[in-house]
Amino acid sequence: MNVFELDKEYVAPTYGRFPLNIVKGKGAIALDCDGKEYIDLGSGIAVNSFGFADSEWIDAVTKQLHLFQHTSNLYYTEPCALLAKMLCDRTGMKKVFFSNSGAEANETAIKVARKYGCENLGKDYYNIITLKNSFHGRTHTTLAATGQDAFHEHFLPLTEGFIYCEADENEVEKALKENKVCAIMFEIVRGEGGVLPLESSFVKKLSEFSEKYNVLLVVDEVQTGNGRTGMLYSYMHYGITPDVVTTAKGLAGGLPIGATMLGEKVENIFAPGLNGSTFGGNPVSCAGAVNIINRIDDALLKEVREKSEYIFKTLENAEGVESVTGLGLMIGIKTKKEAKAVVNECMERGVLVLTAKDKVRLLPPLNIPFDVLKKAIDVIIDVCKE
Ligand SMILES: Cc1ncc(COP(=O)(O)O)c(C=O)c1O
Repeated sequence: MNVFELDKEYVAPTYGRFPLNIVKGKGAIALDCDGKEYIDLGSGIAVNSFGFADSEWIDAVTKQLHLFQHTSNLYYTEPCALLAKMLCDRTGMKKVFFSNSGAEANETAIKVARKYGCENLGKDYYNIITLKNSFHGRTHTTLAATGQDAFHEHFLPLTEGFIYCEADENEVEKALKENKVCAIMFEIVRGEGGVLPLESSFVKKLSEFSEKYNVLLVVDEVQTGNGRTGMLYSYMHYGITPDVVTTAKGLAGGLPIGATMLGEKVENIFAPGLNGSTFGGNPVSCAGAVNIINRIDDALLKEVREKSEYIFKTLENAEGVESVTGLGLMIGIKTKKEAKAVVNECMERGVLVLTAKDKVRLLPPLNIPFDVLKKAIDVIIDVCKE
């Protein structure tokens, strides 16, 4: 049996896979089992921050692998402690809890919010406001946090205590007044929801509300984080100070990791035994993440913003393109053609792009060379106008 047949026979069919078997990659270029090359503008959905098989990252990861691959959280390890310090230094947050995925990072944030509410506001202050069209993960509680009915179907009843609001300040304030709320949790750009950036004024209002109503401001930076939007974390575009920041995906450059960063108000919320994760803070993942975070410096972030500007300018005026949304290298394109058709045609022509709802979505490696990016964008333009 070949890979396609094996997968079909034995892997639970939870994904709509494309008929593509990637066997190798370098930088922004992927190679399939027939030797065909593709420019990858998906980065494994915002995970491969520096593309495939980046040499520096491989060195950092293999160096740790040769030392040891795992201990347990009963012992101290340097990569975990070092990464936590780097994240705190770069964000001003005070403590970090490590896990394995975005959903797990958000689960932790929700636990933090509930404990904060109970201890500081009152026993029934467990409600969390999230936004319609948000996406926070696939576990039962993060599905409940996700403000999209389509994801809830089949899995009811979900964890209670989530209130879904439009990205509208009046609606959010009404919900804060009418319910016992402990936190507002949101993405600065709703990625899975269709690459929908929030208005700067709305983000600032949410920050004001968190002060006014003494609720936690929780920013889900699972997709937007780690340089993706042209700042280390996307909330930094707006000068706000969240109480909790979650991230995952691109943090370790392609290894599983989740991080829940805790600000001053909640830095002491956990005590031994209150949360845990066998693989959380895994030294190999953390060594990869230390390398990635070190390299997301001002020069790289500037490059991300320049590439973004180029994509916006080029695509906004292209035939067959109705609109372009997003921030940094997290881009949604509304095309006249059906998004799925654009993805398929781009793939045929050697460019890998994604969808988000009815849009074509781009999440290229942060360090994609300009000439490679231009080549791929030319293909997208061609496909859109045909
Ligand atoms: C904003 C956001 N939060 C959470 C998640 C869930 O992350 P994971 O798939 O690592 O559990 C995702 C995944 O797409 C995401 O985009």
